[in-house]
Amino acid sequence: MCTIVLFGATGDLARRKLFPALYNLYLDQLLPENFGVVGIGRRLESREEFIASVTQAIRSFSRQTQADRCTEFLKHLDYLQMDINSSQSFSYLRERLPQGNILYYLSVPPEQFDPIIEELLRAGLTSSRAAWRRVIIEKPFGWDLASARQLNDKIRSAFSEADIFRIDHYLGKGMLQNIQVIRFANSVFENLWNYRYIDHVQIRASETVGVEDRGAYYDQTGALRDMVQNHLLQALTLVAMEPPINLSAEAVRDEKVKVLRSLVPFSAEEVRENVVRGQFGPGLINGQRVRGYREEENVAADSHTETFTALKVYVNNFRWAQVPFYLRTGKRMAGQSVEIVIQFKNLPGVLYFDQPNNLQPNILAIKVQPEEGLVFQFNGINLDSQEEIVPVKMDFCHNCAGGSRGPEAYERLLYDAINGDSTLFTRWDEVEHSWRFIDAIADAWRQAGTEPLIYPAGSWGPRAADLLLERDGRRWCLV
Ligand code: BG6
Repeated sequence: MCTIVLFGATGDLARRKLFPALYNLYLDQLLPENFGVVGIGRRLESREEFIASVTQAIRSFSRQTQADRCTEFLKHLDYLQMDINSSQSFSYLRERLPQGNILYYLSVPPEQFDPIIEELLRAGLTSSRAAWRRVIIEKPFGWDLASARQLNDKIRSAFSEADIFRIDHYLGKGMLQNIQVIRFANSVFENLWNYRYIDHVQIRASETVGVEDRGAYYDQTGALRDMVQNHLLQALTLVAMEPPINLSAEAVRDEKVKVLRSLVPFSAEEVRENVVRGQFGPGLINGQRVRGYREEENVAADSHTETFTALKVYVNNFRWAQVPFYLRTGKRMAGQSVEIVIQFKNLPGVLYFDQPNNLQPNILAIKVQPEEGLVFQFNGINLDSQEEIVPVKMDFCHNCAGGSRGPEAYERLLYDAINGDSTLFTRWDEVEHSWRFIDAIADAWRQAGTEPLIYPAGSWGPRAADLLLERDGRRWCLV
């Protein structure tokens, strides 16, 4: 028997992602035969209400539907309305849980991680001789290095490292997993994947949405902690890592940690030079007027929190000597996409000196979402005129034109956690090194006390983010 105990079962993430993911795993017969889910929440009172809300969630957000199998799936679900601060409720939970393996999923606000772990430990629910006990921790894993360390110590007092699954849902995205294969299974790419041939790398995650109903959380957090510390730095490790000795979780994560250790924390002056901090003002998104960040609900009217950041970083090792990585993320931007762009160095243009402006750099764009695929740009002759040189694009798109929708990130990650594979989860030392790098930036911002640059909603961020590249003779390229 395998039971998934989901704290935060009536929350937004559970509704949009976790129940649809469990349901799809069920449809694909990827859950253990004998499984159960105990949803724990505060809001709903009865199992009936809970089942109604999960049914609705599946209808709205599941990528596959099969009405008859939904009823079967729901039979595996139970609900417990629970006060997580009461030891008594945890004793009650213990009585309700069947024998067998248990995966706890903490999809709750960060201040609840500590009390839940404490109570699970006290109730004797974190270990068993005969079965495994694992825990998935949702982000944010800490607010800085010190708080992440505290949280980690707490979790380690109850679970061993091998049973802790720190989730970063970007690692469950198909195209991020694909990076390893693209790099290490294709000689055309791997042989060029270094400072000799790569000019620079861009890692970009743009959103058109604002902070929706998460103003209170977001205003304490900001884009640097919300997106860069985890998702963007994880993407960077996948692009920059050395080939692991094998594909085991430890070997892969050993290599990722080496990349994070190669990021030297910035001085205050380097932060000023290399990091842009922005906040959206009012503007237009898809032709609709939207309010500025400071007018969003639960956001301070004089907030300094950044909703945008762009930075230039170096991975200080042999492979990446002098190759800048430009990272950019923001809310309320002109488009919604996640992509990684590898721009190769130009060849000497001597043969085509009469058309230097037509020569474009070779670009490999890894499209993570909404399109999943690869674009490779190279120069060729215009076959109509047979004279001028034009850039040509080879475009592989997995999900365009009604292509299949592969498993969602959370499906893959839940499946892996149930099967004890932590390759796509962040190990403690990854978290530690990424916070060390991020803390230096956040501290410099706090000490400087300067306001973020305001950009209009619906734009690509403050002009300073373009200048970050322009002063190096580069630009954010279109793919
Ligand atoms: C989350 C952030 O981790 O990632 C959100 O907290 C952000 O602010 C989200 O919107 C983006 O995820 P995705 O999968 O939609 O790119």
